[in-house]
Amino acid sequence: MNRFCKAIGVENPIIQGPMAWISTAPLVAAVSNAGGLGVLGVGFAPDDFVIQQVAETKKLTTKPFAINTVMIPENLDRLTGIIKSINPPVIYADTLGELKLELCEKYFEIWHSFGCKVIVKAGDMETAVTAEKGGADALIVKGWEGGGHTAYEATTVLVPQAADVLSVPVVASGGIADGRGMAAAIALGADAIEMGTVFMACSDAAVHPNVKQSIVDAKDMSTVITGTSTGEPCRQFKNKLSDKMETIEAENVRAKAAELLRPVAESSLKLAMIEGDMENGAVMAGQIAALIKEIRSAEEIISTVLSDAQITLKQIVNFSFSGKESTYE
Ligand SMILES: Cc1cc2nc3c(=O)[nH]c(=O)nc-3n(C[C@H](O)[C@H](O)[C@H](O)COP(=O)(O)O)c2cc1C
Repeated sequence: MNRFCKAIGVENPIIQGPMAWISTAPLVAAVSNAGGLGVLGVGFAPDDFVIQQVAETKKLTTKPFAINTVMIPENLDRLTGIIKSINPPVIYADTLGELKLELCEKYFEIWHSFGCKVIVKAGDMETAVTAEKGGADALIVKGWEGGGHTAYEATTVLVPQAADVLSVPVVASGGIADGRGMAAAIALGADAIEMGTVFMACSDAAVHPNVKQSIVDAKDMSTVITGTSTGEPCRQFKNKLSDKMETIEAENVRAKAAELLRPVAESSLKLAMIEGDMENGAVMAGQIAALIKEIRSAEEIISTVLSDAQITLKQIVNFSFSGKESTYE
C-alpha cells in the first residue's frame, strides 16, 4: 500500500493544496469524495468561518479532509482552541519564515492527542527536517514553480533531497497538473503529489468564472513573483496589480518597499477570486497554468492524473538508453 495513503488514511496519493477563497467546502468535499485529500484554505480565516466550513464539508463528505493553518504562534493558539470541537481528520500546516522545533513539538503533540494527522508544507530542507523531528506525519516539499507563497528552489531539486533525508512520506508540490508530472514526482522519490493551480480551473471550485478562464488562457510566461522585499514572495499572474508591486519594489529600498506593498496587497486575493477582477486583484497561480487547457470536475482531474501517471510510468520502462536494444524489455 502507498505509504502516504496509509499514513493519512486516504485512497489516492493526491492532495488538493489549500487556497484561500478557492478551496472552500464544495471543492474540498469533491476532492475527498474522489479519494484525494481536500484541504480547506482557512489559514488566516476567522474562527466562525473555519467552524462553518468544517461543518459544511462534513455534510458533503464522510472521507478525510484537512484544514489549513500557518505555523505562527497566534494562529496555532487560535486553531488549537477550536480544534477539539470541530475535529478535522487532518491538519495541514504551512510554514512561513524560520520554523521552530519547539513550536512543532508542542502543537503536533496536542493535535495528535485529538486524533488529527499532521501534514507540513516546507519550501526548503531545513524546514522539512525540523517538521519531521517535531512529529509531522508527512511532509510536502513545494518548489518555486507553485502558485501562491513560494520558495526559492525547484520541485525537481527539493523532492529527491527530501526523499533521501526524510523517513515520513514525501509529497511533491509545485508545477504538477497531469499524469506526466505525477510520474516525474514518483521518479524523484515522492510518495504523493499536491496540486493547487489545476483545482482553480475546477468546476467544483466556488470562484469567479474569470479566474477559471484565466487559468485556461495562461501561457508559459504568464506568472511573476512579487513581494520578495516582504520576505514572503508570491507567484501570481502578471497584471496591473503585479506591475504596480514590481514598480514599488524597483523604486524603493527593501524595507520601504515592504511597507508600501502591504496595503496594496491587502484584500487583493479576494478581489480576484470572488469579484473576478483580473487586473487589480492578486491572481495567484503557478507556472503549470500553461498546461491546463480545460475546466473539469475534481473527480475528472484526479482520475485522469492517476491513470495517465500509470500509463507514463509503463512507457518509461521502454525508454531506450542507447542505440542498442533496450535491456529492460
Ligand atoms: C490562488 C492560490 C492560493 C493559495 N493559497 C494558499 C493558502 O492559503 N495556504 C497555503 O498553504 N498555500 C496556498 N497556496 C499554495 C497551494 O496550496 C499549493 O501549495 C500550490 O498551489 C501547489 O503548486 P501548483 O500551483 O503548481 O499546483 C495557494 C496557491 C494558489 C494558486
